[in-house]
Amino acid sequence: MTSNLYWHNQDVSKRERQLLHGHKSFIIWFTGLSGSGKSTIANRLNRSLYEESISTYLLDGDNIRMGINNDLGFEQKDREENIRRVGEAAKLFVDAGVVVLATFVSPYVRDRQFVRNLVGNDEFIEVYVECDMETLIKRDPKGLYEKALNGKINNFTGITDPYEQPVNPEVILDTSKIPLNECVKHIEEYLYKKGYLSEIK
Ligand code: ADX
Repeated sequence: MTSNLYWHNQDVSKRERQLLHGHKSFIIWFTGLSGSGKSTIANRLNRSLYEESISTYLLDGDNIRMGINNDLGFEQKDREENIRRVGEAAKLFVDAGVVVLATFVSPYVRDRQFVRNLVGNDEFIEVYVECDMETLIKRDPKGLYEKALNGKINNFTGITDPYEQPVNPEVILDTSKIPLNECVKHIEEYLYKKGYLSEIK
């Protein structure tokens, strides 16, 4: 499919674009079950980074599935394609010098690893947003667990579909134990400690 195609090098480099923004670019990848708090944490973090003059963009699973990925369902193959497309899009943002926050259930280790491999070693931060099933069923903000438990949704992650826990995530947050503010603080501390937000010159 890539035969007869020729890569065009661009005159303006990724490094120059990062310099323009004044910081590095990378992906913060939030994975976890539906309702675990991925979007809520990412939204808060996004606001906080914006206020610190960091150029960011948030790619959210539900939203992306209403647009560019509205042809995909929840079978394993479709989830794989969902993550592949989002990974490629996130890579473009990183190339543009922008910090990407991506919130996707992304239940398969292999798919997450695929995205990690798309960018540099130091450009992918996996945040595992953990939450026990009892709490998720109690929260159920979209009523999806109730539907899944009553057999009204197929392939529902955590109920009738698997979720493979991250093997070695950079950050783990258990939202049944840690309040929202602290989850956000935890990620920010990680970013500062590892030099992700240091000014580049
Ligand atoms: S992923 O598995 O392909 O990464 P994604 O994050 O894009 O999933 O979409 C998950 C969102 O779709 C959930 O937050 C939920 O609102 C909705 N959803 C609908 N059906 C399902 C399902 N069968 N499994 C998981 N999430 C579902």
